[in-house]
Order: sequence, then structure tokens, then C-alpha cells
Amino acid sequence: MAINDAFLSDLKARTDIMDLVSSYVSLDSRRQGRTHKGLCPFHNEKTPSFMVYEDTQSFYCFGCGAGGDAITFTMKIENLDYIEAVKLLAERAGLSMPETGYDDSLTQKKNRILAANREAARFFYSCLVDEKNSHALNYFLNRGLTPQTIKKFGLGYAPDSWDSLIKHMRAKGFSVQELYEADLVKKSTKNGERFYDNFRNRMITPIIDIRGNVIGFGGRVLDDSKPKYVNTADTLVYKKSHEVFAMNYAKNAKEDFFIVAEGYMDVIALHQAGFTNAVACLGTALTTEQARLMKRYTDEVVLAYDSDEAGQKATKRAMQIFASSGLKVRVLQLKGGKDPDEIIKKHGRERFQSLLDGAENDTEFNLIKIGEKYDLSTSDGKSGFLKEASQFLATLSSPVERETYCLKLASMTEVSADAIRQEIKRNLSTVRKREKKELYSHAKNLSSGAEDKINPEKRKFRKEAMAEEIIITTLFRNPDFYRRVKDELTPELFFTSFNRRVLTVLLSLLENGRELDVSSFRDNFSADEMGRITFLSDICNEVSDTLEECLECIEMLKKAKNKKSSAEISDMSDEDFANMFKNMHT
Ligand code: GTP
Ligand code: MN
Repeated sequence: MAINDAFLSDLKARTDIMDLVSSYVSLDSRRQGRTHKGLCPFHNEKTPSFMVYEDTQSFYCFGCGAGGDAITFTMKIENLDYIEAVKLLAERAGLSMPETGYDDSLTQKKNRILAANREAARFFYSCLVDEKNSHALNYFLNRGLTPQTIKKFGLGYAPDSWDSLIKHMRAKGFSVQELYEADLVKKSTKNGERFYDNFRNRMITPIIDIRGNVIGFGGRVLDDSKPKYVNTADTLVYKKSHEVFAMNYAKNAKEDFFIVAEGYMDVIALHQAGFTNAVACLGTALTTEQARLMKRYTDEVVLAYDSDEAGQKATKRAMQIFASSGLKVRVLQLKGGKDPDEIIKKHGRERFQSLLDGAENDTEFNLIKIGEKYDLSTSDGKSGFLKEASQFLATLSSPVERETYCLKLASMTEVSADAIRQEIKRNLSTVRKREKKELYSHAKNLSSGAEDKINPEKRKFRKEAMAEEIIITTLFRNPDFYRRVKDELTPELFFTSFNRRVLTVLLSLLENGRELDVSSFRDNFSADEMGRITFLSDICNEVSDTLEECLECIEMLKKAKNKKSSAEISDMSDEDFANMFKNMHT
């Protein structure tokens, strides 16, 4: 399993966490010192609570608790497993991976799924151009798609059959188990275990990632039956919430923004009309990960969601996510059709281009939407509008922007700019307070133990867990205390199993005189757990750092243990009590 230590320390020496993180997150460089701050790439936020520590080569987010070292960061941000993250970092550092000594069976499994997907895509394409399925090809042609577009996107057709894909793939050397792992087949357990094709009588759109791998499929019905789409479920190579459709093409487009549409068919129609910077999310609401992927290539997106209510709702949500990912957002108001596909078909590409040129920025869009709710010809309507609009403007972080729109509102409503400014200012303090509260709610949850996902037992053993954490942090910071506590301190003393696991590794590192850094924990802890270890290792600052405090905590745990076992005794039934004695004497 483990990659050899010499290689890992080499990799570590050649990887600077600041460099690495900066290629994904813009970090505040104005600050002096070796701690850097930015917007967390792992959750949505407006105020930065994501820290990178040069000294310990680690990161930690006070908002969501994500943390760890360069490898953990790479695993989380690229959605990779451990070996893959090491490989990527090695490549980045110009190191070649040791040939043996690690288990790459997971990588091999993924490669098989990718190979199966590629072969399946070929199969679906061949079915589409097969004469006996001319109705399928006609469906695409009737929708106005050209043969070039069909080729470019590798579109295909899954025949109306329960096993034609299975048969084809078997002949190509794929096992049913592999197809099952690729979600190309489904399993039925009625009357024994049986497998059948997942996609039947559907138009197939392969989903291709930025590296050109076929990672999944979308399958649309050819008529109005339900469900409209059957899509590949998440597999080892496909995580819906992380992928963006048509990104493989859009990232090379000459425009410096992306058009984000709702449906695959919209994107395909847009590309055909020359808008090769169009992308879509994959049948889910936009996620932070998807926004971040786009952010790697551009600073601006234009939302072109459907004009129905669902589409407008999705627009509002997406705007927030894009904004908090640091992307500029404009919103295209679809007029003359329900979606981009229909607009292009009905009115041509020029109409879409002019909608694109007129797309409002997000602030304008929000103000328009708020305006639609009020009758601005009445004074009641005006004051209602101004109230809500000021509340909204207070959420803008740029003072220049706030002032610009304040002036606009003033001229729109003929109310003095000063009055509006006052109103915005009043709302501003509420917003600030709310943001601050959000920022600290995570830290507060941690110390109260409420809803702690990493260490759920903290809820039950709040005080004990606190003592455990003080011990861990103190030892992290003062390895020389180990000599003084080693006879007293054993993992059994700990009440919560997560902290016990941390202590076990910590003690063994100390015993062997190894360097105490977060990376040494990676073999035994998940990427999420690494966040907590990073916190405990250094950042948690409510610790006095003295040997006395550490010994007191050990003492407290001992007492609590005794009390607990005597409490357990009194809770025991007479029979259990007798049994306990029996066991003690044998
Ligand atoms: P057309 O109706 O042919 O224009 O297709 P479309 O791709 O534009 O679909 P639509 O606008 O209805 O939906 C937008 C996107 O939502 C689709 O591309 C799919 O990704 C997803 N979607 C739509 N219907 C379903 C469904 O029934 N199941 C799932 N899982 N996803 C769906
Ligand atoms: Mn559509």
C-alpha cells in the first residue's frame, strides 16, 4: 500500500503548499507573515476563512473544517485517491514515481472502466449509423443536428434491447462485473442475479472530461416518455457533481467566458451555432466544484438557463455559487424561446448573440427581479422596492459597486441618494454581523461538540474530549513532553475513538523519534479526518501549552475512567456482576 518514505520525503521537499494552493485559490498576499488567507475552495463563502500555513506546509478552513497537507489538498480538490494525488504531485514536481511498492489496483480498475466507456461509446455510435436504426439518426437530424456535430460530440444510439451492449462488450473482453462498475449495466435480483443494459432505446450523449476520457453517458428518450433522461450514476471515474459537460471543447474556445446552459441538447445546439464556449452541468444543480473547474479557465460566466420557473430559480442559486467562487456572472434573459436550443432554431444564431451582448450583470439582474415585484408608480411600491433593494445592495462586498447602484436607484426612483445610502448602511451592519456569525459557527460547533461529524462521540463525552484534544495539541507542539507523560498516557485512557486513534499514531511517532507533521497521519486517516488533525496539530489555540496542563488533563481522564467503570458496575445486573468476577479470577 505505502509508497516508500524516501520518495515521499523527496516529493514533500519539492512541493510548496503555497505554490500548489495558489494555482487553485487566490490567496491574500498583502498580509505579512507566513500564513495566507483566501476563499475556501471546499465550501461556499464570501468572507475568507481558508488558511495556508507555510511553516507547517498545511492548510485549514475555519468555515468547514477541511485541512491537511499538500497531498490531502490535491485529493480533495482534484477528487483523486491517494496514489493518484501523489502521482499528480510527482508529475508537477518533475519526479518519476517508484515503479513498485504501491498498490495501484484502484487505478487499474478505473482504467478498465474508462476503457469500457470508450468501447461502449463506439458501440452506440455504430448503432446510430446502422441502417436498421434510421429512426434514431432521423431524430437527431430532425432536431437540426448536422452529421459533423454528431461526430464532434460522439453522439450515439442505444438499441431497444436488454443485452445488445452486454453481448458486444463481452466479445470485446469486458466482464459483466466491469460493466456493472461502469454503470453500463444494471443488476436485477428477481429470480436470481441477472444483468441488463442500462441504456435502452435512447439517444446517447457521452460525457467527456477535460483529459478526453469518456466518463459517463446521458441517455435521452426519442419521444415524450418518462423518464426523459437516464444518466450514468456516480462511478469510480465519474462524479456528477464535479464534472462539466463540453468543458473539453469550451476550455479551448477563443472567448474568455463560458455560456452555462441547462441541458445537453442546448450545449450541443450552441456549439453547432458557433458558440463553442457553451457548457452545462450534468442534470444537477450547479456545485462549488463545478464553478471551481470553470474558474480554472475563465473569470466570467453567462448563465443561459431555461426561461421557465425552475430555470429562473436555478439561475439565482447558480449566481450565488459563481459569485462566491470569485467568478463574474452575467445573466441572459431568454426571450422568444424556452431555452437556447429553441431560440437558435426559431430565430437563428444572431438573436442568441444579441441576447448574449445584452446579458445583465448579476447585480442588475437581481435589481430587475426585485423591481418586478413592486409597482414603482405608487409611493408604497417605491418604498417597498427601495427597502428590499438596499438590503440586497448591502450584501455586495465592493463599496464602489454599492455606490454605483445606489446612484442608479436614486435616479430610478427620484429618491435622494443620501437617503438610500443611509438605508444601505443600516443593512450593512446586519450583513456583517451575520457573516461573522457564520464564520465562527464552525469553530463554536467544534468546541461544543454539537454535530461533530469527525468525532461524533464528542457529543457524549464533551469534557473528556476537550481534555483529549488539549493533550494531543500540547504533545504536537512540545514533543519533548513525551518523556514526562509516556508512563501515564495510554490510548485506552481516551474516551472518544477518533482521538484515541490520533493519540495512538502520535505516540508511536514520538516513541520512534519521528518528525511530527500532519503528513505522517495520512496512512491512517481519511482526507476529511486530516482536517481535524491539522486543526489539533497547531491551530487550536485555546491551549496553554504547559506540561502541567497536559498532566492535569491526563489526571482528569483517569478519574473519569474510574468513575465510568464504577458507574458501569452499578448499572450492571447481578448476573453480569457475578460474571465479571468470574472472568477476573480466571
Ligand atoms: P431537450 O428537452 O431535448 O431540449 O433536452 P435538454 O437536454 O435540454 O433537457 P431539459 O432542458 O429538459 O433538462 C436539462 C437537463 O436536465 C438535461 O440535459 C439533463 O441533464 C437533466 N435532466 C432532464 N430530465 C432529466 C431526467 O428525467 N432525469 C435526469 N436524471 N436528468 C434529467
Ligand atoms: Mn432543454
